[in-house]
Amino acid sequence: MKTAFVAVLGALLIAQPSVSFADNSNGKNLYSQRCAVCHGADIKGSGPLARKSNPPTPDLTTSAFKKRLSEYPGVIVSSIILRPNGNLIPKTLQENGVKIPPHAWSVKDLRDLHDYMSGVISIKR
Ligand code: HEC
Repeated sequence: MKTAFVAVLGALLIAQPSVSFADNSNGKNLYSQRCAVCHGADIKGSGPLARKSNPPTPDLTTSAFKKRLSEYPGVIVSSIILRPNGNLIPKTLQENGVKIPPHAWSVKDLRDLHDYMSGVISIKR
């Protein structure tokens, strides 16, 4: 019993570093689970709800948005924290019967998501 406990604990300790040093899978997962339904896996506004939001979900890989992101790197994080679009997101999800469970954002989550999205946006020209 005690041995099993120690073994589990050991496995958790060993597993931990691979979780925290993962190749930003946290940012990718957050994006896929919470943003891609509108913004699309490619961040081009190609998700199933992209044309159901009002206004339609924009392509965030355009040169105009890249310029915005480079002049104001906080635009991604602030769109989550400040919700400048009011109830646009909850309303669109609700009208289309899509449920995304609430999430207690950590600072690391915000950084990871920012890094993930910025990476995809600047790679896709
Ligand atoms: C229900 C659909 C929907 C979901 C889900 C959604 N967005 Fe958006 N997003 C939009 C729409 C629509 C706009 C354009 C709003 C406008 O023009 O007022 C937008 C705009 C943005 C912008 C551009 C802001 C700017 O000022 O140019 C960013 C960045 C963004 N979203 C990030 C995210 C992130 C990060 C997530 C996930 C945590 C997310 N969005 C989830 C629909 C969505």
